[in-house]
Parts: sequence; C-alpha cells; structure tokens
Amino acid sequence: MRASEKVQCDRLWDRLMEMAQIGATQKGGVNRQALTPEDAKARRKLADWAYERGFAVFQDAIGNMFVRRSGTDDGLPPVTTGSHLDTQPTGGKFDGAFGVLAGFEALEALEDAGVKTRHPVEVVAWTNEEGARFPSTAMGSAVTTGKITLGEALRKTDPDGIVLADALAEVMAATSELEMRDLGAAMHAYVEAHIEQGPVLVSADEVIGAVTSVQSMFGFQVDFFGEEAHAGTTPRANRSDAVLAAVETISTLEAEATDDADALRFTVGRIIVSPGAPNTVPSHAHFTIDLRHPDDEEIARMTDLIETLPIKIASKRKCRATVQRTSEVPVTEFDPEVVALVDQVRQDLGLRGRRMPSGAGHDAMYVAPTAPTGMIFVPCIGGISHNEAEDARPEDLADGARVLVDCLAELAR
Ligand code: GLV
Ligand code: MN
Ligand code: MN
Repeated sequence: MRASEKVQCDRLWDRLMEMAQIGATQKGGVNRQALTPEDAKARRKLADWAYERGFAVFQDAIGNMFVRRSGTDDGLPPVTTGSHLDTQPTGGKFDGAFGVLAGFEALEALEDAGVKTRHPVEVVAWTNEEGARFPSTAMGSAVTTGKITLGEALRKTDPDGIVLADALAEVMAATSELEMRDLGAAMHAYVEAHIEQGPVLVSADEVIGAVTSVQSMFGFQVDFFGEEAHAGTTPRANRSDAVLAAVETISTLEAEATDDADALRFTVGRIIVSPGAPNTVPSHAHFTIDLRHPDDEEIARMTDLIETLPIKIASKRKCRATVQRTSEVPVTEFDPEVVALVDQVRQDLGLRGRRMPSGAGHDAMYVAPTAPTGMIFVPCIGGISHNEAEDARPEDLADGARVLVDCLAELAR
C-alpha cells in the first residue's frame, strides 16, 4: 500500500486550524513571531502531538525541533521534511505551519499504512524562518548547516533590543524535557512542503509544483545620520535631514529596480525615524531592503548600487550613511533527482502540476548544499501570502501531503 492512501484531509486540516489558534489575530491571520510565548506554545503543541503518536522529539542549540519516526536501520541519517512554525507579524495560517503539519501527517500516514523505512523519517520545525523579529531569515537552518555561527545568531537583537539568546532560552524552557541533539546532524535527503505564496499554480488550476530552485535573496540595513534642528527656523542650507536622504535613496533605487521583465523584487519593509517629532528635523533614518532576482548577476548589479548610492547621497545632503548586508543567499538549485521524484510522484497520483522556481525564500535553500533537497508547492487562494487573508483549500493541502509522504517513503526506503 502507498502511504499516500492513508493521508487524512480532515486530520491535517484540523491540526492546521488548531495551530492557527496560537497567535490568532482578529482579522483571521496569525501573529506567532519567532521566540515569543506564542512560538513556545506552538512548539509545546507539536511535541505533545508527537508523544501522543509515539514519536521521539529532539531539539538543538538554536531551538530547531525534530519529530522522529524510527527506521529499521536507525543509525542511518534521517530523511527529513518540515518547515517553520513562526509567522510574520501579520501572517497567515499556512506559511510554514503547512510544511510542519504536512510532515506530521506524512509520519502518521506511514504509521497507519504500516510502511517500514530503512532510514528514520523526521519532521523539523526550524527556528525563526521569517526573520521578521530577529534578523535574518531561515536562521535555524542557516545555523545548523554552518551558513552562520551559533554565536552570531545568539547575539542578534530584535527592534526592542532583546537579545536572541535570552528569548531562545525562555522558549526552549517550554520543552525542556526534550533530548538535545548536536547542530549539523547529517540528513540523507530533505523535502519541504509549502504553499506557493504566489499566483502561478492557482491561476493555472494546478495542484502541485515540483520546485526547481529558489531565487537569489539579499537583505540590507541602511542608516542615515544627520542632525536635529528646529523645523521652523532652520534654513535649507543648514539642514542635515536624514529622512530626505533616505527618501532620495529609496526612490532612486526603486527606479533602478524597475525592469521590463518585472523580475527584480525590491522591498523597503521597515523605516524607523528618530527622534520622530513632527517639528524636529530628523537626525536618524533606518530602513531595510529586501532584494530578490532569479539571476545572481542582476543581484550583483543592484547590490553594488545599494552599497554605494547611500554614501553619495549622504555626502550631498550633509549626512553620514552606513550600509550593512544582513543576508546574502545566491540562487539555490535543488537536486535534479529529488525534483524528478516529486514530479513523478505527482503524476503517479494523477495530480495536475508543473516544475517551477520559488520566488520566496525557504529553509530548503540552506539545506540544499548539504543534502539532496527539493520542495513541493501547493496553491494558496489568490496567491496571497504574508497577509492575514492567506488561505488554501483543504483538499489541495492534503494532495501536497500525499505527494510528500510518497516521496519520503521512496527516499527512506
Ligand atoms: C520568507 O518568508 C521569505 O521572506 O521569502
Ligand atoms: Mn515560509
Ligand atoms: Mn514567510
């Protein structure tokens, strides 16, 4: 029997809805940012579900949590699936949670079908994928795969100045009974399921994307420093206005980022101005840039500009500027055999779909250099994500879990 026959749409949906109650917002979304009390509750729930089903649970030093179904040769590295339980501040019910709970459904389906696998199969909930509170994105997978050090991650601070190490310790206390495991444990293969977060599948009325790659993804923090002055009395020539320097920079970069193909993604998602008084010329403007493109060369062109333009504009406007790269992930190509397996399983299950690149970032991009990796996309309604209105059809999610479990069973055979 194929384990996919034992996937239960209602069981998966009910768990998603129960998880979505943790951090539920008034508008029907979820605010469960990384390393908050809500994140701790979500981890606690996942661990409790795992114990109820007889699975073992582990965590590592950055708080990644692993639910394990043993293999017949249990010393072999696991075939791993999963995603993240943290959300954007105005996030939805499915970004991340679907990958974790589809993985959990896959473990249950393997149990229910009585399928034995040589390799253990594990579901991971990676820490701080969103990078909305603590920079930067996909932190848990970045640490475990050596892209950044544990020490670097532990020193990060949130906008309120809270140090990550302290927030992490509080969250891990909620699951303090878990056995610790070393960072960087080998994986035999990794397959992550996720909603597409874009319009391709839903527009084509397709159910499954076999993800081939993730586009290049860079993050920056830009700071302009000027001087406070009276808004009513200070002539233009005497001003060092940090906000006007920031605005000129952002609008010049936006013009440079406007390409005919509409392939370059340029986002300024956070601007903080101080002192923030209406009648004082602002002395400090801080903003973030999120930059993405399917082609590393185009990213390099924009990166050069982002790192030089603020300095030029600052000097023209009698300010000082600093630019910091917070993340840099070049284009990730997934393993051709894993991509082919996902596409084949989709066809075997009679589901409509295609091979496609990912516009969003995922933990899979950090895992890819360390183990054969792929991803499975399912549609989300209207292609809407990073929005409280994010939604998906239960049957599409179940189909994603069906493809996932058959891929895991094959890889772990
Ligand atoms: C992940 O949430 C991303 O920003 O792509
Ligand atoms: Mn995600
Ligand atoms: Mn996200």
